[in-house]
Amino acid sequence: MKGVVVMGVTGSVAAYRAADVARDLMRAGFEVRVCLSRGAAEFVTATLFEALTGNPALTDAFDEPKPGRMAHIDWARDADVLLVCPASANALARLAAGRSEDMFSTIAVASTAPLVVAPAMNPEMFSHEATQQNLKALRDRGAIVVEPTEGDVACGEHGQGKLAPTQVIVEATLQAAMRSDLYRGTRVVVTAGPTAEPLDPVRILTNRSSGKMGYAIARAAIQMGAEVVLITGPTCLTPPPRADTRRVETASEMLTSALNACQNADLFVAAAAVADFTPKEPRSDKIRRDGDLTVELAPTQDIVATVAEKFPELVVCGFAAEVSEVEAAARAKLEKKGLSAIAANDVSRSDIGFDSDDNEVTVLFRDGSKIEIPRSSKLVVAMRLLEALRPLMAPPGKN
Ligand SMILES: Cc1cc2nc3c(=O)[nH]c(=O)nc-3n(C[C@H](O)[C@H](O)[C@H](O)COP(=O)(O)O)c2cc1C
Repeated sequence: MKGVVVMGVTGSVAAYRAADVARDLMRAGFEVRVCLSRGAAEFVTATLFEALTGNPALTDAFDEPKPGRMAHIDWARDADVLLVCPASANALARLAAGRSEDMFSTIAVASTAPLVVAPAMNPEMFSHEATQQNLKALRDRGAIVVEPTEGDVACGEHGQGKLAPTQVIVEATLQAAMRSDLYRGTRVVVTAGPTAEPLDPVRILTNRSSGKMGYAIARAAIQMGAEVVLITGPTCLTPPPRADTRRVETASEMLTSALNACQNADLFVAAAAVADFTPKEPRSDKIRRDGDLTVELAPTQDIVATVAEKFPELVVCGFAAEVSEVEAAARAKLEKKGLSAIAANDVSRSDIGFDSDDNEVTVLFRDGSKIEIPRSSKLVVAMRLLEALRPLMAPPGKN
């Protein structure tokens, strides 16, 4: 058994094809549970899917097949993949906005399972800016969009809007299921955000890191099944609910926390922008504005290099935020610090890097190979990075 697919069928003419998709998912080893939207029930019936899947098909947000249980929570927890097939324009809008109106969209906001959407609609509806924005919002949150194909659609028009072939939808669902399992049984430690080095009781030395990349890595690792320790410097972000979050201020506190957490970890991803220098003698009184001030700084200890040296078996991935000669500078760091891999990004660009929601990185490996992760949301970059790092770790079951 590959797991449970909770499948939302929504109001499109292509709803009749959902039956084939459900059957092929079952042949591929999945248990399939179907929710029909009100629109879908105009085209196909719950009876059809109950007969095919052997499970109750839910048609209303208040359907409770098991008395005393909340189906939307049970199914959200049981789901290994959420699939919407076909996805109407209306369903995409509900999912993008997180509107829990029907049973499927309620399950979707209650679940951390990966989402696959297979849109089907009139070509004008598909190319409409609203639909495209909703698809972008879903992609940015890590959803897999199975693009509709071009052809003649039910309304007689020609263009992109036909539900993708069954096999393509089943393969995307398998890919999502594999992704959600990739880190099961592993322990991942992630550092995020800036550090804050005290100058006096009210002032700090810090940097422009928002913490978004590290938080996205923690979120992605949880979605892929890992147990995650998130060691974070001061940020305004909300940590993922299932992360074991440890808050620190200084580079020295972050190092202590990382050494502690990495004792029984499988992967350490150092995404924090750690201060390279700290005031040598922080003052206990507030510094007054009495003319020029010279502050002596001492170098901080290199966290990622120290962790890599202390735990030679641990897979350690660093980040290199560079402004010029990005790849060469990153490769030099990889070698010098004894890392397994390093994700290099160009922070001189305003469209990616520090406070941006997007990133684009080149991942360099110790054996000289590299992969490019093109510009995408930080969550999607995090997922790709974790996929690339997984082969460096012990295979499942050997952790
Ligand atoms: C005959 C007919 C065919 C339709 N086909 C589609 C379609 O292929 N894709 C789509 O997004 N909407 C289609 N619609 C419109 C949706 O059914 C409508 O927007 C509905 O509110 C969708 O709601 P739901 O997502 O809850 O099912 C169609 C409507 C009708 C009457």
